[in-house]
Amino acid sequence: MKVAISELKLPAAGVLVVGAGSGRKLNPSAAAVDKKSGGALQRAMKASRFKGEKGQMLEVMAPAGMKLSRVLLAGLGEQDEIDDLAMEAVGGSAVQKLLTSGETQLTFACDVDAKAAARIAYGAKLGAYRFDKYHTQRKDDAKPSLKTATVSVKGAAAAKRAFAGLDRTGDGVFFTRDLVSEPANIIYPKTLAAACRTLAKLGVKVEVLGETQMAKLGMGALLGVGQGSAHESQLVVMRWNGGGRAKPVAFVGKGVTFDTGGISLKPGPGMEQMKWDMGGAGTVIGLMKALAGRKAKVNAVGVVGLVENMPSHTAQRPGDVVTSMSGQTIEILNTDAEGRLVLADALWYTQSRFKPQFMVDLATLTGAMMVALGQDNAGVFSNDDELTDRLLAAGKAEGETVWRMPLGDAYDKLIDSDIADMKNVGGRYAGAITAAQFLQRFVNKLPWAHLDIAGVAWSEKGRPTVPKGGTGWGVRLLDRLVADHYER
Ligand code: BES
Ligand code: MN
Ligand code: ZN
Repeated sequence: MKVAISELKLPAAGVLVVGAGSGRKLNPSAAAVDKKSGGALQRAMKASRFKGEKGQMLEVMAPAGMKLSRVLLAGLGEQDEIDDLAMEAVGGSAVQKLLTSGETQLTFACDVDAKAAARIAYGAKLGAYRFDKYHTQRKDDAKPSLKTATVSVKGAAAAKRAFAGLDRTGDGVFFTRDLVSEPANIIYPKTLAAACRTLAKLGVKVEVLGETQMAKLGMGALLGVGQGSAHESQLVVMRWNGGGRAKPVAFVGKGVTFDTGGISLKPGPGMEQMKWDMGGAGTVIGLMKALAGRKAKVNAVGVVGLVENMPSHTAQRPGDVVTSMSGQTIEILNTDAEGRLVLADALWYTQSRFKPQFMVDLATLTGAMMVALGQDNAGVFSNDDELTDRLLAAGKAEGETVWRMPLGDAYDKLIDSDIADMKNVGGRYAGAITAAQFLQRFVNKLPWAHLDIAGVAWSEKGRPTVPKGGTGWGVRLLDRLVADHYER
C-alpha cells in the first residue's frame, strides 16, 4: 500500500475518513459530508454508541447523495487528547479496518495542521505492514486490496516535508520487522550479515568479521555460544557518518538467530519463538537504515553479534570456562544464558574501537524481564541518569515506553564465581538485573544503557500501528533519541 499526501479536497470515490470530537462534534470535513449526504452521519451516530471518543470508529456504508463507498468516522476525543500518537492510531486503525475489505482507495480528510497530518500518514504506513510472503494459497478475498491511502490536507507541501523523515524511519522499522519475522532457516548469521550489507547502498559502511577474525581478537565469550552450530558466527559493524568530526554514538545488538538453549536445552513448547532472539540486532540494523535513510547529522555505529545457539557434539558445556575479549573469564553454568556472552564481547569491542559518546545495547535477554514488566514496557538499566531520562522521554513520545530498573553492588555479587571472574547466571531471583550486571562488567567508564526487549520485540495481538509479529520496537525510540539530542 502506498501513502500519498495531497491538497485538501473531498474525494469522488472510495472510502473517506473524517473526524469527530467528544460529544459527537463533527470536524469541518465531517460536517460537509453530513450535509451532502442529507444528515447520514448524524443519523448513524444516533443509531450507535459512537460518541466521538478517542479510539472509536463508526463505519457508514454508501451514504446517499455521494459516490463514496463508505465513510469512516474517527473518534478524536477531547482537544487535549489529540497528540502525535493519537493521530497515528487513526491512520493505522482505518488502514487495518480496510486493508482486506475489497476497497482500493482510502482518503483521510484532515482538518489538522501539517505535522498532525504527517502523523496520520505515518500511522497509515506503519499499520499497513504485513509479513505475508510465505502465504501462497490465499484466496483473492483474503488478500490485501487497499492500494493507496491519501492524506488530504490544507498545506500539503508542508505535510509532505514533515512526512519525508518519518517515512524513512518507517522504512527502518519495516526492515527490523521483516528480519525479526523471518524464520531461522532463512535468517542465520551469514544471511543476517548479508542483510546488513544491503545498507551499503544508503551510504552505510559495513564490515563483517568471521570466526577467524573474532578468534584473533580473543572473543571467546561470543565464539563459545556459536561453537555448537553449523553456521559460522559473525560480527557486523555498520557505520553511518553524517556528523562530521563528532564522537560517534553506538548501538549494540544481541543477534542470536535461533536460541535452542544449547546443551541446557529449552523445553519444546514455544521454542519456535526463539527465532526472534535476534531482535536486538534487528533493531540496531533497522535503526541504521533509518538514520542513513533520512541522512541524520550524526556519526552512528551499529554493532551486532550474530550466533546460533545449538546443542551438538561441538557445543559448549555447562561448567566450561571461557575468556572474553576483555580478558575476564566466565564460568558457563547455563548455556541458555547466551545473550550476555555475545554482548560481553560486542560491547567490549565497540567501546575499545570507537570510544563512543555512549553505548546503548538491545537484547531479548531474559524471560525474567517479561515476568517483571510484561509486554508494554522494555526495561532500561543504566549507569547514567541523563541518558536514561532521554531514553524515557523519547520512548514516551514515540509510543515505545521504557521503565528504569535498578543496578547495584548487591546484585553484582550474585554473579561472582568460585572458579572464574564471574558466572553467566545469578540465582533464582532478579534474573533480568543479574543479566544487566553481567553486561556492566564489560562497560568501562562511559554512559551506557541496556534495553531488555524480551517483552516487546514480538507481538501476538497487534495494535493500530504495530501489526502482530515482529514489532520493530526501538527503531523509533532510538531514532528519536538521536534526533532530539545528538544531531548537529
Ligand atoms: N532468549 C532468552 C530470553 C527470552 C525468553 C527472550 C523468552 C524472549 C522470550 C535468553 O537467552 C534466555 O534463555 N534466558 C534465560 C536465562 C536464564 C538461563 C538465566 C531465561 O530468561 O530463562
Ligand atoms: Mn537463551
Ligand atoms: Zn537468548
